[in-house]
Amino acid sequence: MSEALTKTPTILIIDDDQEIRYSLGRVLSSRAYQVSEAASGEQGIEAVKKSPPDLVFLDIRMGGMSGIEALQHIRSVNPKQMVILMTAFGTAQTAIEAMKYGAFDYVMKPFDAEKVLSLAEKALKATADMRAVRDYKPSINIEDYREGMVGSSEVMQDVFKVIGQVTASDVTVMITGESGTGKELVARSIWKHSHRAAKPFIAVNCAAIPDNLIESELFGHEKGAFTGAVGQRLGKFELCDGGTIFLDEIGDMALATQTKILRVLQQGEIQRVGGSETLKVDVRIIAATNKDLEAMVKEKTFREDLYYRLNVVRIRMPALRDRGDDIPQLVDFCLQYLVQQKKARATKVAPEAMAVLTRYRWPGNVRELENVVYRSAVIAQGDTLLVRDLPVEICAAVGADSTPVPEPTVEAPRARTAESTLVGRPREVIGQPSAATSSEAPLTLERALDYIHEQLSGGPDPILTRLEQEMIRRVMKAEGGNLLKASEKLGITRATLRKRVDELGLRS
Ligand SMILES: Nc1ncnc2c1ncn2[C@@H]1O[C@H](COP(=O)(O)OP(=O)(O)OP(=O)(O)O)[C@@H](O)[C@H]1O
Ligand SMILES: [Mg+2]
Repeated sequence: MSEALTKTPTILIIDDDQEIRYSLGRVLSSRAYQVSEAASGEQGIEAVKKSPPDLVFLDIRMGGMSGIEALQHIRSVNPKQMVILMTAFGTAQTAIEAMKYGAFDYVMKPFDAEKVLSLAEKALKATADMRAVRDYKPSINIEDYREGMVGSSEVMQDVFKVIGQVTASDVTVMITGESGTGKELVARSIWKHSHRAAKPFIAVNCAAIPDNLIESELFGHEKGAFTGAVGQRLGKFELCDGGTIFLDEIGDMALATQTKILRVLQQGEIQRVGGSETLKVDVRIIAATNKDLEAMVKEKTFREDLYYRLNVVRIRMPALRDRGDDIPQLVDFCLQYLVQQKKARATKVAPEAMAVLTRYRWPGNVRELENVVYRSAVIAQGDTLLVRDLPVEICAAVGADSTPVPEPTVEAPRARTAESTLVGRPREVIGQPSAATSSEAPLTLERALDYIHEQLSGGPDPILTRLEQEMIRRVMKAEGGNLLKASEKLGITRATLRKRVDELGLRS
C-alpha cells in the first residue's frame, strides 16, 4: 500500500444496525484496519467532516437520512471520499443510483468476508493512488487553446505554420492523414483565419452521400430534374458562395462528379442538375482523404488533372503514435474541456494512467484518445483519473494491470431501458464484468496476436487478408449488417467497407 495512506488505514462504518456494524467491524479489524462507527447518516457526515477516513462503508437503508442522501453529502464535503455502499436488496435502481452518486462499489448483505476484504483493499488502493497525485500540473491551460488545436511536437508546429501560410490566399489545400488525426479541424482552422471567416464553412462528406445524389447535393437541381425533384434546390456550392467548402473523403467521389469539381476549380462555375444556366460561384476548396490518391491516379480511379488542382498545398497530418510527446497535452486538454462542460469531475491524471495512455498506439488517433478520456473521466470517482478507470483493452494492449470498472452507466442503454424489470446481482445489472473472470487471465494484445499468428500461418490466404475478412465478418454481424455502423467500428469509410465486403466475398 502506498505511503499516501495513514499507516493503519481508517475505515468508517455507517449503519443504523448495531449488529452489522459489529460483524463488519470484526471482519475489517482482522486486517489491521482502524475501524470507527456511526449509527446514522447524520453522524457519519459529521465524522467525515471532522476527519475523512480512508474508506467509508455506508448502509443504503437507514431510519432517517437514506444512504444515497448521505452519500451525496459526503461526496460534496469530500469529493475524493471512497464509499462502498451496503444493501440487503439488490435492485437495478439502487445499483444505478449508487454508482451515479459516485460510490466506489456496492456490496450485498449478508457479507462474504473475503469479498468485503478484497473490495476494501481495492478501494484503499484507489484512495492511495488518488492522494499520491498531489501536485499535478496540467501540461496546458485550456484558455490558451481557444483554437481547439493542441500539439507542440515539431510535426504539429509545422502543420500550424503551413496553416498560417495558406490563410492569406485562396489556394486549394489537400489534407491527408489517417482517420481521427484532425483533418477537419485543420480545414476549419484555415477557414477561421482566412478573409472568408465571415462567410460559411460547409463540410461535405463525399463518402456518406450516394453517388446518384452527390451532384444534386453539391450543385443543386432544378424542379423535375429527376424523379423526386419536386422543387428547385440549391446545392452546397451555391449556399457556400464567398465561403469555404470542405470536401471530406474526396477519394470516394465518383469520376463523373470529379469532372464537375474540376470545372469549379478551373472556371469558378457550376450548373444545377437539370439546368442550363451557368452560375458563377466564389468558393475556396479544401479537400481531405485518408486514401492514397497517388495510387488511385495510377489506377485511373481518380482524375490526374483534379489531383494536381487540389494538391497545390499538401498538409500531411501525423498519426498520433508518431507524435507521442503531444499525448499528455491532449489528455489534459480533453479533461479540462470535459470539466468546463461539467461532464466530468476528474482534473488530474495519475502518473501510471498517463504512462498507459502514452504507451498505447492509438490506431484511431486523436478521436480515439478523446473517446477514451471521455469514457474514463465519466467513471472516475474522484478528481483523479486512475489506471482502473481506463478501458481494459487499452491496459491490455500496453501490458498494464487494471482492475476493470463498470462501463459508464450513463451510457449503458441496457441499464436505462430495462431498469425496472432487471433482477439479480447488481453487478451484473450494471454490466460490470465480475472481477474474478476478468483479472484471472488478462489477455494481452500481444498474446492474442501470437495466437492468431500461429493459427493463420500456413493457411491458404495471406494472414492479413484472413484477419481482415474475419474482423469485417464479425463486426458486420455484430452490427446486424449495418454498413455505416460497421464502418465506424472498423474506422474506415462506408464506401471502403462496401468495396472490401464485395472483394472478400462477404456479401452473404
Ligand atoms: N491537435 C488536436 N488538438 C485537439 N483536438 C484534436 C486535434 N486533432 C484532432 N482533434 C480532435 O479529434 C477529433 C477528430 O478530429 P477530425 O474530425 O478533425 O479528424 P479527421 O482526420 O477529420 O478524422 P476522419 O478521417 O475520421 O474524418 C475531433 O474531435 C477533433 O476535435
Ligand atoms: Mg474527418
